[in-house]
Amino acid sequence: MTGRPYVLLSCAMSIDGYIDDASAERLLLSNADDLDRIDAVRAGCDAILVGAGTVRRDDPRLLVRSDRRRAERVARGLPPSPVKVTVTASGDLDPAARFFTMGEATKLVYCPSGALEKTRERLGAVATVVDAGEPASPAALLADLAARGVSRLMVEGGGIVHAQFLGDGLADELHLVVAPFFVGDGRAPRFVGDGRFPWHPGRRARVLEVRQIDDVVLTRYALSDRCPEA
Ligand SMILES: NC(=O)c1ccc[n+]([C@@H]2O[C@H](COP(=O)([O-])OP(=O)(O)OC[C@H]3O[C@@H](n4cnc5c(N)ncnc54)[C@H](OP(=O)(O)O)[C@@H]3O)[C@@H](O)[C@H]2O)c1
Repeated sequence: MTGRPYVLLSCAMSIDGYIDDASAERLLLSNADDLDRIDAVRAGCDAILVGAGTVRRDDPRLLVRSDRRRAERVARGLPPSPVKVTVTASGDLDPAARFFTMGEATKLVYCPSGALEKTRERLGAVATVVDAGEPASPAALLADLAARGVSRLMVEGGGIVHAQFLGDGLADELHLVVAPFFVGDGRAPRFVGDGRFPWHPGRRARVLEVRQIDDVVLTRYALSDRCPEA
């Protein structure tokens, strides 16, 4: 396979742009119908990436939930759920996290060269730990995923990871869901923080679709020429 995987970013935020609140509880932004839509998008990807911050904070399973979609993947010769991918510099991830313990999917942990040894010691029994350069870069991660046969990657957050893919010009499509409430707490994380992004007032991204899903609104943006609908 040549070229990097197609990269689809997925995020849900409040009306005021927060992707979580500042409490210890996980904040639900999507609704049941939207979670089902996300499940369908997951089922259409080869790999799903979340940052280590999201693994620690949300403890996500990152599996295809629908029996039918899992069966369809298997019928196509694929594993029931996509490969799970995370990235960490600290290596500070719990091997008992659901990312590692749930599902049969391959689990990949990318880290900077300098953290490879300690991360392999901690997580080598539950995941394949991969050197992503010094510092670890999204481009290196994508090159390695391509070499492993991944052609479509879904990036599910959090904000630090999304900002890197956007800032490095490595995102092809964005699915942004807005939930119908405010968080109103500056301590909470936003979709992305400060940065230089390829899309700005002088270069506006193209809207592919706006769809109401029960009480949330999904907007799909094309972020590169690789997006088939762009
Ligand atoms: N609403 C949504 O759609 C949504 C989706 C996902 C997450 N979230 C929320 O987002 C928040 C977490 O987001 P976050 O921005 O704090 O964290 P994040 O993006 O999930 O993960 C950031 C961490 O990933 C690792 N990392 C990222 N880029 C790296 C690189 N190039 N090299 C090495 N390591 C790298 C680092 O881990 P180490 O610290 O281990 O070095 C970094 O601290 C949570 O509140 C979660 O609930 C919301």
